Amino acid sequence: MSAALVRSLAQASCSRTAPALTAAARTFTHTPAVRQDKADDTAQTHFGFKTVPSSMKETLVRNVFSNVASSYDVMNDAMSLGIHRLWKDHLLRAMAPAPNTRLLDVAGGTGDIAQRFLTYQDTHYQGISKDSSVHMVDINPEMLAEGERRFAGGRWAGEGRISFSVGNAEQLEFVDDCSVDYYTIAFGIRNCTHPERVVKEAHRVLRPGGRFMCLEFSRVENPVLAALYDVHSFHVIPRLGELIAGDRASYEYLVESIRRFPPQDEFAQIIRDAGFTTIGKGYENLTFGTVAIHSGYKF
Ligand SMILES: C[S@@+](CC[C@H](N)C(=O)[O-])C[C@H]1O[C@@H](n2cnc3c(N)ncnc32)[C@H](O)[C@@H]1O
Repeated sequence: MSAALVRSLAQASCSRTAPALTAAARTFTHTPAVRQDKADDTAQTHFGFKTVPSSMKETLVRNVFSNVASSYDVMNDAMSLGIHRLWKDHLLRAMAPAPNTRLLDVAGGTGDIAQRFLTYQDTHYQGISKDSSVHMVDINPEMLAEGERRFAGGRWAGEGRISFSVGNAEQLEFVDDCSVDYYTIAFGIRNCTHPERVVKEAHRVLRPGGRFMCLEFSRVENPVLAALYDVHSFHVIPRLGELIAGDRASYEYLVESIRRFPPQDEFAQIIRDAGFTTIGKGYENLTFGTVAIHSGYKF
């Protein structure tokens, strides 16, 4: 099939709305997190190592992040010895975004990815990428407020290049079909009740040719390193949570949720099942698989 045919088929699936693919920053409305899926009220899911009704997970997750919001950045550095910064830098290098493009950063939290995207635009395309923008979405207003604080009064304030919405990654009805160039979700998808719905939503909102990228904790394959990582996860991290954030339980959940998330190849298949095209196996392991970057293109 020719590239032109692939492009026109993909565009046909985007006919409901026809936004400019690389439009300048638009103002998005703040949208409250909305409807739980009532259809699966009897269904169960995991919350860390616990089994809970699916309808409760969103609230439980929101509570975890309300508890950790104010200490989130400090804890991230403490738990990973600062390595999360390198993983996030690597995500941006792997994305290598084009100038004047739009990023939807879902589960954006305190804005690490948004900040790196705008910095990348400004340093790589000095002065010629003023139409690049980020829309950050998060289910937790307290985490998002930390993000807003970070950008308030900063170098992008008043440029209209960053906007914020409270919303659930599974239902981004306030984002038009085919309206963004890049979609990122960093350390967020494992907290979602239905990761496959998240990926399908990502596919809907991306423009043809757009790219989905997910940075998430994954599986360490080397058994010796995996054993060391378990000690760090189950003993060191909850203790740090207790000492730094005064909250052991939330950090126990965060560690347990990592173990419940599908391993690399399984998640890559979920991405392909949502309609994305992956290159090769569809992911890159970082730090021996402690985290992986999954990536897919919408064609
Ligand atoms: C571990 S933090 C990651 C924040 C940021 N992306 C980063 O890498 O530092 C996970 C974020 O996912 C958000 N989150 C959890 N479930 C969500 C959902 N269903 N929809 C949107 N955001 C969600 C949490 O509120 C939290 O801010």
